[in-house]
Amino acid sequence: MLVFLRVTTTATPTVLIDQDELSARIAALAHEIRADQPEGQLHFICVLKGAFLFLSDLIRALPGHVSIDFMACSSYGAATSSSGEVRLSKDLDASIEGRDVIVIEDIVDTGLTLHYLQEILLARGPKSLRTACLLSKPSRRKIDVKVDYIGFTIEDKFVVGYGLDYAEQYRNLPYIGVLE
Ligand code: IMP
Ligand code: MG
Repeated sequence: MLVFLRVTTTATPTVLIDQDELSARIAALAHEIRADQPEGQLHFICVLKGAFLFLSDLIRALPGHVSIDFMACSSYGAATSSSGEVRLSKDLDASIEGRDVIVIEDIVDTGLTLHYLQEILLARGPKSLRTACLLSKPSRRKIDVKVDYIGFTIEDKFVVGYGLDYAEQYRNLPYIGVLE
């Protein structure tokens, strides 16, 4: 007999970054990204699922022409620490050859996921490749990875909300919270 377990937790996360701080920082990032490339189309690649809210708020704050695409890869199950294994579970719809690409990630932790993604994308010949991460936990880094734009640098705490999950929960919180 197969038994499916669904992790549920009723804990309410403690607010680490509230809605106002998120929107002010994301608006500043959007202007910085556009200022670094004032002309032309920017092609945003959203890493699912965690970055979907970050992408949607970022592009609405960004002037000029924008296109978007999505990819998904996983290095986590229901656990809160990286397995070190990265798997591409959804590829892009369109070619990135010759395009100005910006990868949008929720959080860079060990850096393994982002490193893997950047290698794959660079091999496809974009004109440029930059990366924006909403959050960074530098103390956890296992590999040196280039991140061009960072929203917030945080301590080594497991965070949820604003797209980020614990066992698929909490993505809908409008703030970044800490699970204690
Ligand atoms: P990395 O490969 O260790 O850098 O992990 C990157 C991925 O792990 C992120 O894109 C998240 O999906 C997930 N992750 C890392 N830290 C956290 C966290 O504190 N909360 C939720 N997800 C996390
Ligand atoms: Mg992610």
